[in-house]
Amino acid sequence: MFTVCRATAALTVWLIANSAAASDVQADKDRLLDSLVGQMTLQEKVGQLRMEYASAGPNPQAKLDSIVDGHVGAMFTSPAASQASLRELQEAAAQRSRLHIPLFFAGDVLHGQQTIFPISLGQAASWDLQAIGKSARIAAREATAIGLDMTFAPMLDISRDPRWGRMSEGYGEDTYLTSRIAEAVIPALQGPTLGARDSLMACVKHFAGYGAVEGGRDYNTTDMSARRLVQDYLPPFKAAVDAGAGAVMTALTSLDGVPATANGWLLHDILRQQWQYNGLVIGDHGAVEELIAHGVAEDGERAAQAAFTAGTQMSMRDRYFAYGLPRRVTLGEVTAQQLDSAVRQVLATKYELGLFDDPYRHLQGAPANQDQRLHRAQARDMARRSLVLLKNHDQTLPLSRHARIALVGPLADNAVDILGSWHANGKPDQAVTLRQGLQSGLAGKATLLYAKGANISDNPQAFALLADNQVSFDPRPTETMIAEAVTVARQADVVVAALGEARGMSHEGASRTDLNLPGQQRALLRALKATGKPLVLVLMNGRPLTIGDESQWADAVLETWFSGSEGGNAIADVLFGEYNPSGKLPVTFPRSVGQIPLYYNHLNTGRPFDPARPSVYRSRYYDIDDTPLYPFGYGLSYTDFSVSAPRLSSARLQPGQALQVQVTVRNEGLRAGETVVQLYIRDRSASVSRPVKELKGFEKLALEPGQERQVTVQLSPAALSFVDRNLRWVSEPGWFDVMVGLDSQTVQTASFELMP
Ligand code: BGC
Repeated sequence: MFTVCRATAALTVWLIANSAAASDVQADKDRLLDSLVGQMTLQEKVGQLRMEYASAGPNPQAKLDSIVDGHVGAMFTSPAASQASLRELQEAAAQRSRLHIPLFFAGDVLHGQQTIFPISLGQAASWDLQAIGKSARIAAREATAIGLDMTFAPMLDISRDPRWGRMSEGYGEDTYLTSRIAEAVIPALQGPTLGARDSLMACVKHFAGYGAVEGGRDYNTTDMSARRLVQDYLPPFKAAVDAGAGAVMTALTSLDGVPATANGWLLHDILRQQWQYNGLVIGDHGAVEELIAHGVAEDGERAAQAAFTAGTQMSMRDRYFAYGLPRRVTLGEVTAQQLDSAVRQVLATKYELGLFDDPYRHLQGAPANQDQRLHRAQARDMARRSLVLLKNHDQTLPLSRHARIALVGPLADNAVDILGSWHANGKPDQAVTLRQGLQSGLAGKATLLYAKGANISDNPQAFALLADNQVSFDPRPTETMIAEAVTVARQADVVVAALGEARGMSHEGASRTDLNLPGQQRALLRALKATGKPLVLVLMNGRPLTIGDESQWADAVLETWFSGSEGGNAIADVLFGEYNPSGKLPVTFPRSVGQIPLYYNHLNTGRPFDPARPSVYRSRYYDIDDTPLYPFGYGLSYTDFSVSAPRLSSARLQPGQALQVQVTVRNEGLRAGETVVQLYIRDRSASVSRPVKELKGFEKLALEPGQERQVTVQLSPAALSFVDRNLRWVSEPGWFDVMVGLDSQTVQTASFELMP
């Protein structure tokens, strides 16, 4: 009793001391912000709301002068910016400007800064929240060491359209999986406190609806029901806000005709009012001036007003906040109070980042890109976890280390593309290609033969208009290259073909109408198939590709995305069986572009197609097998797992009660391995039609051969809710199906009734 009392008393003292400390910090912050805002001129206030390029540009002195004059609040830096140049900018702000207000520096760190991890879509394929969190932590450490205070990441746009090149930047098609990843990534980036030296503020993007652009065409219109938006597209952002994300970036697109950057419903009603978000809102690059092209503002001044009054507090690379806002304030169209509140927000961001204490906290001169500073082991681990085995006929994989292997393809010895889009400061000469990975994996026990076989695209001009257009082009005729590859293949026991996209093809501004392997790569694969040798297709790409034929021709198919600095070693680990693949698709692979959008959590419709009882007047395409090529959640292993039918803690659930769903998972094979148990639900009947399946829980687990484990997934009452026609989250009584499996297609079902 006595001990308990002492412990309670100690806890009370600790709590009081801490809340006193917290309120001291708040008071200190308020004092500083009040004092600064009270001293600022109109121009200085507007200056705080502007983010400009850190690069010197044609007139470096003018850039420094504009900082000294208080016309810039933050800097957008390229990953390659030198710390000396950033320090010079920070000195101009923190030492030479009238009020000594520091800048903050922001940049795009999506999947690593110097150590490059797999692209986000690849990381999502690991379904491994811990590993994803670790890679974000390392990215934050590396980025803060070279001057960054904020990253424009994570990208939380749900996308059901692989034509959209930016699918590679996000975590796939599923709301639940993306939300859980957001919860892992935000604290990993931001650390226990934003003021820590290696904490990187997250600016989540793009709020909201960008991933649903019409036809997958970048920057195109988004238009969907508010219900769908709130239910399927917003929850990852809500999860990020609840996890404490410091900043939010607006989308460049419009939603129901209103560009996100000037959308008060999104930025004010939802983000601020409903979600109680109290961080910074930044307009995407050029988003304010684009309001004119969108046709919702006549001129720059009005564009600035529209964005600002809707809730965009800081503009990125845009001149109109500078020219337009002061006049709108003078005219009374923007109130002094609105202005001050946005300025306070920017200052609060800098305060939380610790920049008033030490403006150089992230500019301590750490050397960039030294090989010994790279986190290679962690990059290799993350990459192995994100690889997805799509086919393995007759146990073609793993390869024997004693086999003669012919490695072929434009991505086989390619250190540029393996890093993926948004590769920050990742250097190709620090990346391990597949050829290098296989070579060291062979450990001198066999021979590795190599031929490039084809270019990624036979039209080098195709790259000219891509944001990331670095591409090496072999000028030899296609026939010569393919013939060389075939000769090499004939000398081998097994052929490994590394085919896919250039990193710039799955990127911003890189939408495609055709999702086939580009160029002559299909012809190359067909020729390799004709040799009759066992054929392994290693895919490197940033989105689902339509590989129906290729998956027939190849004996084994391994999806490797763009796997980063250690990609080559990680892929070799899987090919040689050093690591048993455990990745599962975070996105549906269609058979044909014409099926898009194709996603697992669709509605049933009044006339669903049933392949067991085919009939004409049903919802389907008659000219194709109307299923995905590979479903969401799919991925094989070198071992076999079995899952029992789900056991429910109750068949009748009272409102507010949680349901425990239990299954037994067993490793039936001869190798240790990991798999992901996935739990889906279906609300059979509600006031609005509910999807045929919705992911509501998962667990990744490792099992030794013959080992079995009980896995219990808890379904909270919230998991049963949906957005009704009044945009409220509700759950309605009635019957639900619970489906459990190792992918979204092959599941076992149990049912329960939610009581009124
Ligand atoms: C993109 C953002 C990115 C910004 C800065 C914009 O074009 O839409 O995602 O963060 O550029 O690079």
